[in-house]
Amino acid sequence: MIFIDEDYSRADRLAEKILRNVMIDRRYIAVITDQHIIEPGNLLYGLDTNASAARVFEALKAEPLAELVLSLGDLGDTTRNPNRETATASKDSYQHVKHLTEGLTLPLLTVAGNHDDPKLMEAAFPNQWESQKNGVCRYSFHGVDLISVDVRTGPEATGFISPETTKELDETLAQCRGALIFSHFPLFDLDNERIASGLSVTNREVLAPIFDRHRDKIAGCFSGHLHIWVSALINGIPVTSVPSSSFGFSLEPMSSDRETLSAAPCGYLLVGVATDGSVIVRPRFLPGATRNER
Ligand SMILES: [Fe+2]
Repeated sequence: MIFIDEDYSRADRLAEKILRNVMIDRRYIAVITDQHIIEPGNLLYGLDTNASAARVFEALKAEPLAELVLSLGDLGDTTRNPNRETATASKDSYQHVKHLTEGLTLPLLTVAGNHDDPKLMEAAFPNQWESQKNGVCRYSFHGVDLISVDVRTGPEATGFISPETTKELDETLAQCRGALIFSHFPLFDLDNERIASGLSVTNREVLAPIFDRHRDKIAGCFSGHLHIWVSALINGIPVTSVPSSSFGFSLEPMSSDRETLSAAPCGYLLVGVATDGSVIVRPRFLPGATRNER
């Protein structure tokens, strides 16, 4: 019996050690996107996006694992401009974002979406990236570089990556050992014609040689804008479309239909980075916006 107890205790100690190593080795960020926070008292598409945004920030304030929050854009939006192609968030929208994020102690790294106003957003949430140049931002996290790419400089409501940003991304990747790349618009072709023709970076072909050159360093690419959760492996690069925390769209495989609102799960992603280069993505599901919360 004594031997059995000792064996068990040895096994327990080993299990504890393995668990401790796993816990110590991996650190997490929270990736959020498309809250579409608007002027208080309003609805967007008939949905109370401010209520769903309140839920995501309350969840993040209580999130035990995340060490920083990375927002992929459309944090703010507006109901004052009925033209959805040109609608961008107002000062009042960002005031409300500030109100909802009160008490959030984690750094909040922002990437502007097509409904954000970069200047107003920067005024409300001063830059927390470690460096920012030619549309490329960088933040060192647990041995990898978090790199964001600004791809909003093209036609309204679509993405265009400028030559300066393309060059800067290439040079940034050349300097780092490992990277996670973040953008509002998708950088890769997915399995849907509507996404390819109207919802992704319009000149994404210029990125192909850069991704080929630095493929071994890129541990993942994350984008927002689509309001769907998709994971893919494209030319050896793990690609994730991050779900909105406010509402989902229908963008079905092999379809060219325009997006409509869907009942897909909403939430955010916890992304765990380990020193061995592995990346783990876990969804944190939350109720999306509904029509009857006020
Ligand atoms: Fe967007």
